[in-house]
Amino acid sequence: MLPSILSATLLFAGPALSSPLERLQSRATSIDPVINIDFPDPAVLNVAGTWYAFATSGNGKNVQSASAPAISGPWTVLPNDLLPTVGAWSNGANVWAPDVRQIGSTFVLYYTATDAASTNQHCVGTATSNTILGPYTPQADSIACNITAGGDIDPSGFTDIDGTHYVVYKKDGNSIGHGGSCGNTVAPIVPTPIMLRELAADGITPVGDPIQILDRSDADGPLIEAPNLILVNGVYILFFSSNCYTTTLYDISHATASSIKGPYTKQAWLAVTDNPFSLTAPGGATATVDGQNMVFHANCAAGRCMYQSKITVSGTDVSFST
Ligand SMILES: *[C@@H]1O[C@H](CO)[C@@H](O)[C@H](O)[C@H]1NC(C)=O
Repeated sequence: MLPSILSATLLFAGPALSSPLERLQSRATSIDPVINIDFPDPAVLNVAGTWYAFATSGNGKNVQSASAPAISGPWTVLPNDLLPTVGAWSNGANVWAPDVRQIGSTFVLYYTATDAASTNQHCVGTATSNTILGPYTPQADSIACNITAGGDIDPSGFTDIDGTHYVVYKKDGNSIGHGGSCGNTVAPIVPTPIMLRELAADGITPVGDPIQILDRSDADGPLIEAPNLILVNGVYILFFSSNCYTTTLYDISHATASSIKGPYTKQAWLAVTDNPFSLTAPGGATATVDGQNMVFHANCAAGRCMYQSKITVSGTDVSFST
């Protein structure tokens, strides 16, 4: 079943109102960015009570960062570039969608960058540091780089309840698409699946082969991307964005499973343009591991600013809450 805007509005708990339109209007709450500069594809991590956020390259840095005493802010953009040197597998360009996880006493940075040999494709690398703000030392080899399938982007780390580490990422099929929106609305449409790969205890060494856990369907337009995985009350919740980020159709969606390897079932849209925050093209979301908050980007005067909202997880349902 394809979720509609109306079914999505039903997710937002609130006073009983007479019509779906009234419910939609009651939720048309505008929120301000918590980081009001271009800060796309944000990730967050709490270290000893301080929140840190990380974002795609921009403002003169490969990996942007910010910190705050609470996830709601106030956020301070930091001068650090967490990854001044990119792994030898890359030509150093286009460092996108970083994510940082603490594994033991080591901080592991997962990131996307342009492949050195196939400069139309991007791959996923890792870097480590003993301090949250780095600078991180990159591993020489990438951990996901399937060039013939379009490359790999948008890594996000996850540690399961049994302590096993994983990374989820997107096979960037639209980079070898045949044209149209984000290069992939002209037949034959190229798959853009979300992949899951187990990692060793160090959080960087791949174990076994990656497995596909989700793919686009017609309702997703050219692609799905920007995966982020959390586990709440036994439900694996895989957030992702659908459609092309340059269009107003970009969104935040989620799929759920009772096993980490799936099968994952797509659930109702969590956010589409104008719903519920009157934002344009919200996406690139990362939820906190406790499933209580989310950061994401949406269009703003500076580009794509970071926004934050509380979320409520109930079984397989996720809704924004204020
Ligand atoms: C690359 O992706 C293709 C298409 O999904 C797949 O058939 C192939 O096995 C992958 N190669 C590697 C090395 O993972």
